[in-house]
Amino acid sequence: MNAHHTPAPAVAARPAGPGGSPVDAPAPSSRVLPRVRAEVDLAVIRDNVRALRATARGGAGVMAVVKADAYGHGAVPCARAARRAGADWLATATPEEALAVRAAGDTGPLLCWLWTPGGPWAETIAADIDVSVGGAWALREVTAAVRALGRPARVQLKADTGLGRGGCAPADWADLVAAARAAEAEGLLRVTGVWSHLACADEPGHPSIPPQLEAFRAALEEAERAGLRPEVRHLANSPAALSLPETHYDLIRPGLAVYGLSPAPELGLPRDHGLRPAMTLRAALAGVKRVPGGHGVGYGHHYVTPGETTLGLVPAGYADGVPRHASGTGPVLVAGKWRTIAGRVAMDQFVVDLGGDPAEPGDEAVLFGPGDHGEPTAEDWARACGTIGYEIVTRIGARVPRVYLDAD
Ligand SMILES: Cc1ncc(COP(=O)(O)O)c(C=O)c1O
Repeated sequence: MNAHHTPAPAVAARPAGPGGSPVDAPAPSSRVLPRVRAEVDLAVIRDNVRALRATARGGAGVMAVVKADAYGHGAVPCARAARRAGADWLATATPEEALAVRAAGDTGPLLCWLWTPGGPWAETIAADIDVSVGGAWALREVTAAVRALGRPARVQLKADTGLGRGGCAPADWADLVAAARAAEAEGLLRVTGVWSHLACADEPGHPSIPPQLEAFRAALEEAERAGLRPEVRHLANSPAALSLPETHYDLIRPGLAVYGLSPAPELGLPRDHGLRPAMTLRAALAGVKRVPGGHGVGYGHHYVTPGETTLGLVPAGYADGVPRHASGTGPVLVAGKWRTIAGRVAMDQFVVDLGGDPAEPGDEAVLFGPGDHGEPTAEDWARACGTIGYEIVTRIGARVPRVYLDAD
């Protein structure tokens, strides 16, 4: 078929209103199919938070991490769901993310930890958000902001216990703790927390775990010696929350598990921990056509039909967060079977070979979900493209509407 010279199909004129402008008349078909949508089940998020709370050792609380737009699920609805299910704390990476949670009406304990020189410290402190401090420069900026603002800050000191990323190095910890204590004594701030982050909690038995725990104990002792009395000490991300009770301290700090994914295959399936994936990514087929054998498919013709077959066009691409690395590997449930992406993922679409099975435009393609209706999971996608489930859900693009089930 040569589409280039085919005249455009006739389009029924829309009725005009009194001023000649078109009126929004109902479409002739009553079926309105979203191109693609990410359904997020908030009841599932609440259940996951409750399951995590039940997992936390010795009555430790839950700090639900809602950074990166709640791992792609939508920060504000997920923050509300987590609070409703009893999350004692929320956390974000950036201050902007924390301020957005506050702007949506959240008033509970909230921490943000990813700072660069310049803040915005004052705005964040004024919004009663705990700010993480992992170095002398940040403490200086906090105290300067507090003096200008005229109200004390709530500060959580972050120790680098071996991750080698953010946080205060052990060699500088005593000085940071002493400076924070001095600022506390001056009434400039209150040290509400001491915390750290694990490097390899998703690898059961990893030799870095005991030394990190030991370093955290030492950091806490130093803080205590300096006279600090933090309300909360926390260390446990999702893998540690699920598998290392000795890391739970006063709070577990899960992100991924809140959204129902397992942090690593070694830690089992979500259901092994009473969790369930909250997101289902669906699309409506934008086209179905018969093609002969030997037909190249998509950019670069990296797939060639092995015989006469039916191709289905899935209108979601890397602009929607479908990884280009899923070209030729990503699984999709269409017409009752798993299909593998045929050829390259493009910016807005990809193709599946339906192998002659009947399908129609508008039929559903389920990219991933909880897996209990035969659809692939985010973990299946992660395996297919050599990444982690975290990246699959977090990168779902801004132009994919989030549709909330069981919203408050
Ligand atoms: C400092 C910190 N704490 C907690 C988390 C949550 O980790 P997870 O999603 O594995 O629970 C993250 C996520 O990257 C993090 O950076």
